[in-house]
Formats: sequence, C-alpha cells, structure tokens
Amino acid sequence: MSLPLVILGTGGSVHDVLDIVEAVNQRTPTWEVVGYLDDARPAGSRHLDLEVLGPLHVAERFYGHAFVNAIGSDSTFRRLPEILQSTGLAPDEFTTLIHPAASVSSRAQLGRGVTVNYGVSVGGGAKIGNNVILCPGCIVGHDATIEDYSILAPRTVISGHVHVGRGCYIGARAVIRQRIRIGAGSLVGMGAVVIRETDAGSIVVGNPARPLLRVNPLSLTSLSETGK
Ligand SMILES: CC(C)(COP(=O)(O)OP(=O)(O)OC[C@H]1O[C@@H](n2cnc3c(N)ncnc32)[C@H](O)[C@@H]1OP(=O)(O)O)[C@@H](O)C(=O)NCCC(=O)NCCS
Repeated sequence: MSLPLVILGTGGSVHDVLDIVEAVNQRTPTWEVVGYLDDARPAGSRHLDLEVLGPLHVAERFYGHAFVNAIGSDSTFRRLPEILQSTGLAPDEFTTLIHPAASVSSRAQLGRGVTVNYGVSVGGGAKIGNNVILCPGCIVGHDATIEDYSILAPRTVISGHVHVGRGCYIGARAVIRQRIRIGAGSLVGMGAVVIRETDAGSIVVGNPARPLLRVNPLSLTSLSETGK
C-alpha cells in the first residue's frame, strides 16, 4: 500500500520531487502524492495534475501523511526555518527522499526531510541535517557537515570536512575548499570558489570568493530584511 505524501510549495523544485517519487515508485511502489500546501495558489486549484489542498498553516489537518518541502531559493532561503516551523509539523513528519540514481555512502547520516536528487553523491562520514535540499548533481565530500535548512543548488561541490552552517544557500556550481566553514545563513553565489571561511549571514561571489558589496535590493529584499 502506498503512503500519502504532501508537497510543501508549488515552485520549480516540485518537478525534482515528483521525479524522485516516480523513480522510487518504479522500483517499489511507495508513495502516493496527494497534493500541495501552498500560500500562493488557491485551495482547490491544480498544478501539474495535482490539487492544491490549502495554505501551509493547515498542514496539521493531514495527520498521518508524510511531507516533503519544495520551498527554497536564493531569495527566500533565510526564511525557510520560519516557513517550515509555521506549519506546526514535527521533524519526523517530514520524509527523506532519495533518488535511486543518487549515491549515498552507508557511512553518511541523513536527517529528516532531506531531498537527495538525481546524480547527488554523499560521501562517507558526511552528516546532513534536517530539511536540507541536495539539488541534482551536487557532491558532498567525506566528513562534510550540512546543517539544517541548507540548500545546495545543482552541481555544487562541498569538499571533505567542510562545515555548511544552518540555513545556507550554496549557488549552482559553487566549489568549497576542504575544511572551510560557511557561516550560518550565508549565500554563496553561483560559480563561486570559496577558499576562506565566511561569516554568518554573508554573501560571497567569484573566484576566489569575496563579499558581494552591491546587493540587488529587489531580488534580495528578503535577505536584507532577515539579516544574519
Ligand atoms: C549572488 C546572487 C544572489 C546575487 O544576486 P543579485 O543581487 O540579484 O545580483 P545582481 O545580478 O544584481 O548583481 C549584483 C552584482 O553582483 C555580481 N554578481 C551577481 N552574481 C554573481 C555571481 N554568482 N558571481 C559573480 N558576480 C556576481 C553582478 O555582476 C553585479 O556586479 P556589478 O555590481 O559590478 O554589476 C546571485 O547572482 C546568485 O549567484 N544566486 C544563486 C543562483 C543559483 O545558484 N541558482 C540555482 C537555481 S537552481
């Protein structure tokens, strides 16, 4: 019997979640996606052939369902803890989804509500916290730590022993040198090569990565509002 699964959000990451569910179900029928919870679309509307069940705050009505988060971008990531906590869901109500074409070491630890997409590699000794999104093709090296609510965009490379703090966004194809600490709430721009520690709440770009001085006030409004 398939287990009911509710997706939080209706953004682009929904495609990734549905791809994982389909791939898992092809091997072993496991999940039935019953719909979305989302604040931006009306309840009863449809998205990708599934129903919007209501806003995020009604999550507790779906007791007994499993939940997966599809919310999070470079402009909203710092609000992710608050958004998920506002659902009232307990950590163990979030399920961890692993694409069958991902490679997760048997010596790695994954928390609750982790999404491991197609082509991801997680090395031995790595520790992945709760509600972390590992986008397609990203690599988490051996003994690296990714704290709760962080998002690794596609093809990021987190080298061995790196520590990514809580609630970070690591942009597409960024590379982090081994043993570096990325401070909580940091944003690493796409393509950055990070060779030094970043302070909490910093935004770094380039090769070698340096603080971004001119932040776009429109695209990063939510970043400047939430601060560090
Ligand atoms: C770093 C980032 C958040 C900046 O966003 P922003 O403030 O809207 O950026 P803007 O386009 O206004 O650019 C601001 C300045 O930063 C520079 N810049 C922006 N992103 C950069 C990057 N990744 N690397 C180097 N420089 C960058 C711009 O050239 C510009 O410089 P200028 O002031 O000298 O002209 C964004 O560009 C980024 O990299 N986000 C991650 C995207 C990603 O990984 N997406 C994956 C989706 S699946």
